[in-house]
Amino acid sequence: TPARFTLDSAFGIGAVNPRLYGSFVEHLGRCVYTGIHEPGHPAADADGLRQDVLELVRELGVTTVRYPGGNFVSGYRWEDSVGPREQRPVRLDLAWRSTETNEFGLHEFMDFCRKTGTEPMMAVNLGTRGVEDALRLLEYANHRGGTELSDLRVAHGAKDPYDIRMWCLGNEMDGPWQTGHKTAEEYGRLAAETARAMRMIDPGLELVACGSSSSSMPTFGSWEATVLEAAYDLVDYVSLHAYYEEIDGDRDSFLASAVDMEHFIDSVVATCDHVGARLKSKKRVNLSFDEWNVWYQARFHAATPPDWDKAPRLLEDGYSVTDAVVFGSLLIALLRHADRVTAASLAQLVNVIAPIMTEPGGPAWRQTTFFPFAQASRYGRGRVLRVEVDSPLYTTARFGEVPLLHATAVADDETGDVTVFAVNRGQDAALPLEIDLRGVDARAVAEHLVLSDADAEARNTLDDPERVTPHAAAGTTVTGGVLRAELEPCSWNMIRLS
Ligand code: AHR
Repeated sequence: TPARFTLDSAFGIGAVNPRLYGSFVEHLGRCVYTGIHEPGHPAADADGLRQDVLELVRELGVTTVRYPGGNFVSGYRWEDSVGPREQRPVRLDLAWRSTETNEFGLHEFMDFCRKTGTEPMMAVNLGTRGVEDALRLLEYANHRGGTELSDLRVAHGAKDPYDIRMWCLGNEMDGPWQTGHKTAEEYGRLAAETARAMRMIDPGLELVACGSSSSSMPTFGSWEATVLEAAYDLVDYVSLHAYYEEIDGDRDSFLASAVDMEHFIDSVVATCDHVGARLKSKKRVNLSFDEWNVWYQARFHAATPPDWDKAPRLLEDGYSVTDAVVFGSLLIALLRHADRVTAASLAQLVNVIAPIMTEPGGPAWRQTTFFPFAQASRYGRGRVLRVEVDSPLYTTARFGEVPLLHATAVADDETGDVTVFAVNRGQDAALPLEIDLRGVDARAVAEHLVLSDADAEARNTLDDPERVTPHAAAGTTVTGGVLRAELEPCSWNMIRLS
């Protein structure tokens, strides 16, 4: 039996906020050092930024970049990272048991954003620091000049204010692993007071309060409610973080990971709206899904802990075709909630659980996960249409009966073009798909690209960097207003209609 759905432009979910296609650069492993920054590399520009990586970041279509962490931010001393490089101190990074040289800092990051055409999303340290330090960083970065800190920025070479609009109020403050970890009450009050003070400098900032580090945290749900009770009117977003991996060889459940992600999103929306109702607030708090990805955390926790090296190889997961299909399904989940998930950051960008890999002194290449992200960022712009799938089911140990098809569609209301993103979660058989196009003008298949492989474990590596790339599907047709396609087993698909 085919999987089916109907497209009708009268039934929309919401506009895609371009910030849905954000990513994340943390001082972690080789994300910064030998990832985006490697003076002396043949491709490095005068500022030490690797131009081969800049090019791939642009191709990936990243819109925002969260920085500088992550767990790293909870010990971050921003002033160490500015001014003459030779005077910058070398410090311990407690989060990743690494040595931080501060060769790359705030100005270098802003330079990276300018060169990649991305928007910065800055995090403040609410672990070892608090309100005063957040204000100092904000003044340094955004004030026009004429004060000690803003003049220091000018003296360091940035005459114009950086005008950073989005700020994260700490990171994963609910997690016992976080330096300066807090209870929900402690964090809620600190987030509220930091937000209130930051808004005294600039009321128009967009502020993100930390939600739970994952939906499996024991405090999940009550953490969000308590934090929002304290900070509801002072913040614009609450954050969500989720990582998925195949556990004990249960690939069927792994391929259904987005079931968990969609449930997580629905639960946080419900919590936000519950608090809003209790506070009789007309305001709506949206969701910043500012860490999401496939991450083999079990392997990371089993590995020998780092030993204070500079830029050690950490979290350098190599992604298979299966991982990319799950990853694509997570993107579909974000798009299906575009009305409330108005910002997101793929964690992370280079080398560390990343779509882009590099070798020190060597090449840069695209992981399998690069392709779904680049395609979605390029064509998943416009308005998400409501897609109600009628699909054959399969049985999973973790989520019970799950539809084989996971899909969404984005309409460009100016051109009338529609792009469908679809995943076949089934490992064994192709899935016939029928889309009734009765409510959209698009009638011709412009392109059907697929990511799948006879070897679902295939991946791109230093030695074989183009082993996996998307290919065109054959036989996708529209007749009598119905699109018919075959979705290969365990595949990510982009079908563009014009
Ligand atoms: O992205 C890797 C780490 O995962 C981040 O530093 C932290 O916020 C999360 O636990």
